[in-house]
Amino acid sequence: MVAVIHGVLEAENEAIRIYNELIRACEQKDYVTQELAIDILADEEEHRTLFDGFLRSFERHGLKAA
Ligand SMILES: [Fe+2]
Repeated sequence: MVAVIHGVLEAENEAIRIYNELIRACEQKDYVTQELAIDILADEEEHRTLFDGFLRSFERHGLKAA
């Protein structure tokens, strides 16, 4: 289970990296797309926070990554 959480965290971090890149690329060119990307980025950051919490909870209870 911990390995799955690490996989999700990797995916969330990559999504966050890509949305940040998109937000920068849109600057002074496409504010509608930029705003959509900012909204989605906020969702992805929430997911990362959620799964960080799951990981800390698993580690606190002695369950380590495989
Ligand atoms: Fe996500």
